[in-house]
Amino acid sequence: MPDRANQLITDILRRIHEAIVENDITYDEYQTAKQWLIDVGEAGEWPLFGDVYIEHVVEEQAFASRAGSQGTILGPFHVPNAPLLDTPYELPHRPHEQGDRTRVSGRVTDTDGAPLVGANLDIWQADADGRYSSFMPGPPEGNLRGQVRTDAEGRYEFTTVIPGPYTIPLDGPTGKMTAAAGWSPWRPAHIHLIVDAQGHEPLVTQLFIATSDYLDSDVASAVKPDLIVHPQPAGDGSYAISYDFTLAPARTPAVA
Ligand code: BEZ
Ligand code: FE
Repeated sequence: MPDRANQLITDILRRIHEAIVENDITYDEYQTAKQWLIDVGEAGEWPLFGDVYIEHVVEEQAFASRAGSQGTILGPFHVPNAPLLDTPYELPHRPHEQGDRTRVSGRVTDTDGAPLVGANLDIWQADADGRYSSFMPGPPEGNLRGQVRTDAEGRYEFTTVIPGPYTIPLDGPTGKMTAAAGWSPWRPAHIHLIVDAQGHEPLVTQLFIATSDYLDSDVASAVKPDLIVHPQPAGDGSYAISYDFTLAPARTPAVA
């Protein structure tokens, strides 16, 4: 392990040193960068910064050769132990929750197409104004967070509202760095899921709403074409989204 740490730390520092030389970085710029690093820590934004600007490469690298459905980043807004929902499988929401209603449904199978019975889907999302419960003012704790299980045919379904796009916080050091670089701070509208079944690799993923802005300019670089879904009008003013998940076998078989 010290060898691995030595290699990683040496390599990362070497690349920082090269950037300083190649860009002829001044003492003023160094002091600005140092203060910014301090500010990120004081604002508690290291998890946000990592998930916006670094996690997507780790995810792509870690799962490049995994079979089954595409995953993408976890992000900083997952809360464990959301309630397990019963019929009619509706994500908890406020009485007058804004946004277009949608049913999301599909199947969870293994890589041979066999249904995975009792697979768990842990779901969380922003509301129509792009706000996550527990992290942003507005929605009450637990809003638009829940878990559902697949039935005997591997089918799942839940009802929710179509989320809105949102910006990362603009007034903190991560947002200020994004503005300083002239980049868009927006994430396109998406629904997060962790799909998990015994004996299979958990799939951390997001479904991106095809009609959302910012699909081509996600600040977190997490959009993949396979993860874009097209809500279909259901005829009663609501929508239907259909998506099937395929889980890869667990890398390390469970010990009996
Ligand atoms: C998100 O998916 O919610 C997210 C991901 C990375 C950074 C910020 C938010
Ligand atoms: Fe998100």
